[in-house]
Amino acid sequence: MDLLDAARHAREFAVADYSHFKVGAAIEAADGQVFTGCNVENATFGLTVCAERVALLKALSEGVRGFRRVAVVADTAEPTPPCGACRQLLWEFGGDLEVILGNLERETSRHCLSDLFPYPFDSRLLR
Ligand code: THU
Repeated sequence: MDLLDAARHAREFAVADYSHFKVGAAIEAADGQVFTGCNVENATFGLTVCAERVALLKALSEGVRGFRRVAVVADTAEPTPPCGACRQLLWEFGGDLEVILGNLERETSRHCLSDLFPYPFDSRLLR
């Protein structure tokens, strides 16, 4: 299945009772495995987890390291890019990923994560 299609499918499981803004994501590991996620909201609002982080954390929690691409889908005419928190974690665990954005019908844009997140704090600074 195409990575955007996988993200579209994951979006159907979004738990978005508060914002009604459903997002799906799919991250492709270096070995070709695909992990999907949807946004998960809850009554605190602040503990919401974005679709991208759900997909990434599912992969990491299964011992998968190294990623090539991530796809994000929302029902918007304009691209829906990852939030700042997701960019931070995608950078730390995925490096300069290809980020493919789409809506329910089509791909809307494609980026390098280094363009979306050009001046990162990362582990190199902890040495
Ligand atoms: N959201 C994501 O899941 N990913 C994004 O890239 C942008 C925002 C979610 C968080 C929240 O559940 C809803 O969209 C509205 O912000």
